[in-house]
Amino acid sequence: MKRALVIGSGGTIGGSLSKLLRQKHQVLTISRQNSGIAPDFNSEYCDSSLANISEEIKQEGSLDLIICCVGVLHNELLLPEKRLAQLSGQKLVEYFKINTIIPALCLKEFAPLLHRKNNSQFVFLSAMVGSITDNALGGWYGYRSSKAALNMMVKTASIELARTHKTTCLAVIHPGTTRGPLSRPFAGGVSSDKYYSPEQSAKRILSVAESLTPELSGSFINWDGNQIPW
Ligand SMILES: NC(=O)c1ccc[n+]([C@@H]2O[C@H](COP(=O)([O-])OP(=O)(O)OC[C@H]3O[C@@H](n4cnc5c(N)ncnc54)[C@H](OP(=O)(O)O)[C@@H]3O)[C@@H](O)[C@H]2O)c1
Repeated sequence: MKRALVIGSGGTIGGSLSKLLRQKHQVLTISRQNSGIAPDFNSEYCDSSLANISEEIKQEGSLDLIICCVGVLHNELLLPEKRLAQLSGQKLVEYFKINTIIPALCLKEFAPLLHRKNNSQFVFLSAMVGSITDNALGGWYGYRSSKAALNMMVKTASIELARTHKTTCLAVIHPGTTRGPLSRPFAGGVSSDKYYSPEQSAKRILSVAESLTPELSGSFINWDGNQIPW
């Protein structure tokens, strides 16, 4: 049986992905809020917490698939900025900590656990608005920039890992606008046929992730499997 790890399994998409994966994988989960392995994301940079979790998982063998769902658009502190005048150092640090730094440290600690003989995948949920090329609307400075930085982390790591993990694919995926607390306050202008259920999104993300081969490592991919320009 294949082994999968979902990071951020307490969220809307992470929860649906974990449920779906359990139908045919052995699933490990990391979450601050459900029954998964609990990380200490509150420690300043959480490096040692993730290193300890990685060591724990390693004892039981390698992983075939890792999906990192960690991300934030708004919370008690954050609201996407509409104008430059709304930028705040404290809020930008929070965006980059959750959207870039935590996923990058997960990449560092968990990539070495990926299977080196069979095809394996490590995918990160990014966002279309993290595409610099696609940015025609502006706004959402912190979210856009921290997702663009995540994209660069994954692209850069894909070049390094290609040397040691020849059967691995690292990629960032845009899940599509998905019903849940993250998108709800901004879903007013989204037509109902483009506002997907978490189950629909999970099914499509998993289908894209499992189809990824090492040649596609370092790609930015839409939920329908098409490539997104950086
Ligand atoms: N929903 C959409 O329409 C949409 C569109 C484009 C991209 N995305 C991206 O897809 C991913 C999942 O979205 P979602 O709708 O499932 O969002 P969600 O329900 O808000 O889930 C957010 C996830 O981020 C983690 N998280 C949040 N705050 C954190 C913090 N302070 N420290 C550590 N982890 C934290 C949560 O992990 P715990 O399990 O620990 O709670 C959870 O997995 C995100 O990266 C999001 O940017 C979503």
